[in-house]
Amino acid sequence: MQEEKLTDTASRLLVINLIFREGMLNRSYMPENEVNFSRGLEGVIASQTKIGYIDGLKGHLVYRGYEINSLVENSTYEETAYLLLYGRLPTRSELDDFTSKLKERSSINKETYDVIRRIAGLSHTMSSLRTAVSYIGTHSKLGDKTDYESQEEMGISIIAKMPTIVAAIKRAVNNEDFIEPDPSLSYTENFLYQSFGERKSKEVTRILDSMLLLHADHGMNASTFASMVVISTLSDMYSAITAGISALKGPLHGGANERALKMIMSIGSPEKVPEAIGRMLESKEKIMGFGHRVYKVYDPRAKIVKTYADQLTKGTPLRKVYETAIKIEDYMIERLGSKGIFPNVDFYSGIAYKAIGFEPELFTPIFAVSRITGWVARDLEYLTNNRIFRPRSEYIGESEIKSYIPIERR
Ligand code: CMC
Repeated sequence: MQEEKLTDTASRLLVINLIFREGMLNRSYMPENEVNFSRGLEGVIASQTKIGYIDGLKGHLVYRGYEINSLVENSTYEETAYLLLYGRLPTRSELDDFTSKLKERSSINKETYDVIRRIAGLSHTMSSLRTAVSYIGTHSKLGDKTDYESQEEMGISIIAKMPTIVAAIKRAVNNEDFIEPDPSLSYTENFLYQSFGERKSKEVTRILDSMLLLHADHGMNASTFASMVVISTLSDMYSAITAGISALKGPLHGGANERALKMIMSIGSPEKVPEAIGRMLESKEKIMGFGHRVYKVYDPRAKIVKTYADQLTKGTPLRKVYETAIKIEDYMIERLGSKGIFPNVDFYSGIAYKAIGFEPELFTPIFAVSRITGWVARDLEYLTNNRIFRPRSEYIGESEIKSYIPIERR
């Protein structure tokens, strides 16, 4: 035992000596030009995919070869979910089977409802969502299985339950009774019915369905990447999705929609925009709902969501909010358009969700109701050619080896 310890210490010292003699810790361990440090992994290609494509300079978003605009015009959330997951548009019977599968799995059990009720209002709704999905994973029969079929089954089950969970969170926050899913309704119809306790108009349902479709997948964004990192360790789908939800919560990612609306409402009217936004820019504040790592032109999703915000606010008290947003867009493009900063999907989505009747605290969970498909599709795709994600950091700390100083002599 003693000998083993000595050998271990000796070999560690030998390695440290070698590293220093070769100058490895002097920032030259990586062969030059082979791998460069990229802050925030900008521009780094970390996986290959057939799921989706973004042209950030031309403003195109493509799912499995289909331009997002043509899907919004012709498809539904369920059909697009099938496309993202299985690589092609379904036949009628494939779509019927898939929607039946979702309906069969859309209920959550009493224990999960109890947990949602107990934690409602304690912290952000995204924390409730994270806890609920993680909790469901603790009593899934497949929770510890890591084979592809089990991961797929877990993924489909979470996609199916997501609207039920988010609607339950909404109702728990408002101290209302929970509403079970109605098997005669579509994914989006059910989400609205379970959230509000009544059916919404065809127009509103269609708009929300399109918004879910628009948010369903978007390259290797932070939450998708977080989820993929977890699945790459051969952990289970519940854990991977819990990680995705955790990353989506942040204001630089999915959390921007809630903050964008709050900012627009706090400014209050179009004439106050130059002064308010000007002041925020002077103090180097980020304006929520603007800018994007990939898009350097107008986000194609934002273009579509803007038309929904316009449509839904006409003749309503929210019209002033929409007009204030338009003024913010004009002002921001004038000031920062030349730097490639334009509205992203989160700028107008909050206005549309609010016009439908959702409170701002629900905006990011709604994003998750949609993005769940992208997370599952990309996690499953990655598993077909899995390699654990394991980047490195460039060491920029002390280069001298120090002698250890016992605590009483420091
Ligand atoms: N307001 C003001 N300036 C901005 C903004 C903004 N929203 N976004 C970027 N900039 C400036 C930034 O200050 C920096 O300027 P400089 O070069 O003078 O220092 C430059 O543009 C580059 O910004 P960055 O933060 O290095 O860009 P990034 O690629 O690391 O970050 C982003 C992208 C989306 C996090 C960032 O644009 C941002 O924080 N936007 C506000 C939050 C937001 O709307 N997030 C939703 C993103 S879209 C949906 C999603 O994926 O969730």
